[in-house]
Amino acid sequence: GHPFLHQRDDQLWLEGHALADLARQFGTPLYAYSRQAMRAAAAGYQRALAGRPHLVCYAMKANSSLAVLQTFAEAGCGFDIVSGGELLRVLAAGGRADRIVFSGVGKTPQEMRLALDAGVRCFNVESEPELQALSDVASAMGRRAPISLRVNPDVDAGTHPYISTGLKGNKFGVAHDRALEVYRRAQALPGIDVHGIDCHIGSQITSASPYLDALDRLLDLVESLAAHGIDLRHIDLGGGLGITYTDEEPPSAEELVRQMLARIDARGHGHREVLVEPGRSMVGNAGVLLTQALYLKPGESKNFCIVDAAMNDLMRPAMYQAWMRIEPCLRRAGPTETWDVVGPVCESGDWLGRDRAFAVQQGDYLAVLSAGAYGMTMASNYNTRPRAAEVMVDGDTVHLIRERETAQSLFAGERLIG
Ligand code: LLP
Repeated sequence: GHPFLHQRDDQLWLEGHALADLARQFGTPLYAYSRQAMRAAAAGYQRALAGRPHLVCYAMKANSSLAVLQTFAEAGCGFDIVSGGELLRVLAAGGRADRIVFSGVGKTPQEMRLALDAGVRCFNVESEPELQALSDVASAMGRRAPISLRVNPDVDAGTHPYISTGLKGNKFGVAHDRALEVYRRAQALPGIDVHGIDCHIGSQITSASPYLDALDRLLDLVESLAAHGIDLRHIDLGGGLGITYTDEEPPSAEELVRQMLARIDARGHGHREVLVEPGRSMVGNAGVLLTQALYLKPGESKNFCIVDAAMNDLMRPAMYQAWMRIEPCLRRAGPTETWDVVGPVCESGDWLGRDRAFAVQQGDYLAVLSAGAYGMTMASNYNTRPRAAEVMVDGDTVHLIRERETAQSLFAGERLIG
């Protein structure tokens, strides 16, 4: 699962760089990413899609740092965005607007105008009132907005309820049985150009079968739309492919996409362009969060290893009870003990890992693995904690891609009264 992370001589290495050295050089908490791992992840999707019209739209909510976007833009990827802010990030990183799909249930008219002005590839529309609003905005600009409808296929992705999105009864997309009618309305609206169909059934999905079920439901619709004279140019399969955090064994991106393409071809849709929107599987295992053990606090029922990274740096454990592997950067000889790895934030929910066995001393560096996705992008400034720095290793070189925030910058926009 971590092809660019190695254990060698009792040390953890990212590409050729010792994690403990990175932590020492740049300070902690520190996010460190492998650029080669990101390129390899993109290449997996692209290999499977080669030879047909396609676009890999990296779901940048997983990690939107400019150098990460630059890496994927240079690899020929497009982007799946969910806000005007994300659009501005893509442009700042040198990405192309005509390779952007714009997802999200709550696009504002202002964001719609921004995206139309920039010339995004497609709006992934999630409701009927949004469709109407988009048509109004586009018409007022003398334009037509290219759209896809996000269809909710009502399949269970078998994932955490907070990150499962393809079932009836959640806020995403248009119900499958309403879709035909909504497409006919869309077709009639003056500011709308119908381009495609999309779905996204959830995240951290570890088997191909829910994807194939959803795809079948989608292709049923593509066919009934064609029968009504609505011929879609593209099918967007969404994102959601899981990664290995512990013992999950998801299919590779290449394998998953191949299976889906085989189904598309078998049903006679091989001429349509295929889009995907992967996030986690592009960056998750390309990154680690490095932290230093501040204090060890052995106790009667629990041993606490208090580190300098906290829930504000990495929300996933606190928010989803997510299990993320934690390893010492330099492995110590000697007996291991069982630790709860916790941060300095004043909440009992502020933990990164529970009941983890390793040998550790005060001052040691630890690495939280698989932290490249939904780590930095979900970070907050709770407790007025400046957000971490980020580095990107690429072969022999290390690039500082984000400076550590300063506390002063956190309240620079605030005003005293009077
Ligand atoms: N497309 C759409 C429309 C999405 O909503 C998402 C993720 C993706 C693509 C990318 O999904 P991925 O390939 O990354 O699974 N914060 C949570 C994950 C939330 C995912 C939200 N939507 C976590 O840390 O597990």
